[in-house]
Amino acid sequence: MSAIVKAVIPVAGMGTRLLPATKSQPKEMLPVGRRPVVQYVVEELEQAGLDQILFVTGRKKSAIEDHFDADPELVRVLSAADSYTLLDELAYTSTEASYFYTRQSTPLGLADAVRRAERFVGDDNFVVALGDSIIKNGSGTGLLAKMVEVHLSSGAGCTIALEHVSPEETYRYGIVAPVAGADTSVAFEIDDLVEKPAPGAAPSTLAIAARYVFSPMVFEAIRRTAPDRKGELQLTDSIRLLKQLGQRIMGVTLQPGERRYDIGNFESYFTTFIDFALADEKYGYMVRQYLKRKAREL
Ligand code: UTP
Repeated sequence: MSAIVKAVIPVAGMGTRLLPATKSQPKEMLPVGRRPVVQYVVEELEQAGLDQILFVTGRKKSAIEDHFDADPELVRVLSAADSYTLLDELAYTSTEASYFYTRQSTPLGLADAVRRAERFVGDDNFVVALGDSIIKNGSGTGLLAKMVEVHLSSGAGCTIALEHVSPEETYRYGIVAPVAGADTSVAFEIDDLVEKPAPGAAPSTLAIAARYVFSPMVFEAIRRTAPDRKGELQLTDSIRLLKQLGQRIMGVTLQPGERRYDIGNFESYFTTFIDFALADEKYGYMVRQYLKRKAREL
C-alpha cells in the first residue's frame, strides 16, 4: 500500500457562468482574497504530500502555467529593492512540487478531462481536485489526507469528498445514496450517485465536493461512459460505471470547520471573496468594519 503522490487539476472548462470576467482569462485565476483560486488548490495538494501535479488545461489558460513558473526577472527587481515581504509572496513558485501540463482542446466534460491524465497516472492511485473550488480545512488532519487513508484502506475504486447541502439545493449538485444503514458522519460506502436531483427526489443531502481519489480503473470506466445530451462525458456517470465494474465507491464527509468554496458562479464567487477578505490577517479587520458600516445602510 503505497502513498499517493499524483494529483490532477482539471482547468480546461470555459467558465461561461462567469462571463465576461472569464472571456480572456481562466476562472481558476480569479483572485479570492490575495491569491488566485488555483493557488489555494495547489497548496492544499502539496500540504497532503501530493507533489506531482498535472494541470489539464485548454485555450486561454496559459496564465495558470505562468503563475506556477519561476520569474527570475521579477525576483531580481524585488531583490534589488530589498522587497523581502513581496519576495516571500513568490515562495510558492519554488516548492519541491513538479508541475505537468496537458491539454483538453475541447471541453468535453470532466470525465474527458480526467481521461487526459491516463499516461501521467500509469498504475498509481491519484487525486482529482477541481481547479475552481477551494477546500478550507478545519482542525483535523485535512480532508485529502483522510480521503487517501480511506481510499487505500478500503481498496476503493473511487473515494469522493461530500458536503451537506440544504434539501432545496440538491438540484445544483451530484448527490450520493449511501449504502443502507451507513453512518455518514465520517467515511462510508456509496450505493449510487444522482446528478442534480430535484428536491424531494434526492437520495440524501450529501453533495459531491470537488475532490476525488481514484484507482486507475477509472480510465476503463471513462472509456465505457456514453456522452450526455450535450456531448460531454460526466464524471458522475463514469463513477457509476466504476461501481458496475465491481469497484467500491467510498465517501468522506467534510467535518465541522471544513468547507468547500466553489467559485463557478457569481453568487458563490462574491460570497467566497468576502469570506476570504474577512479572514485576511492584515486587511480582515478593516473589511469587517466596512461591512458593519455598510450593513447599517442596507
Ligand atoms: P465546471 O463544469 O464547473 O466548469 O467544471 P465550466 O464548464 O468551466 O463552467 P461553466 O458551466 O462553463 O460556467 C469544474 C472544473 O472542471 C474543469 C473546469 O475548468 C473547472 O475547474 N473542466 C470542466 C475541465 O477541465 N474540462 C471540462 O470539459 C469541464
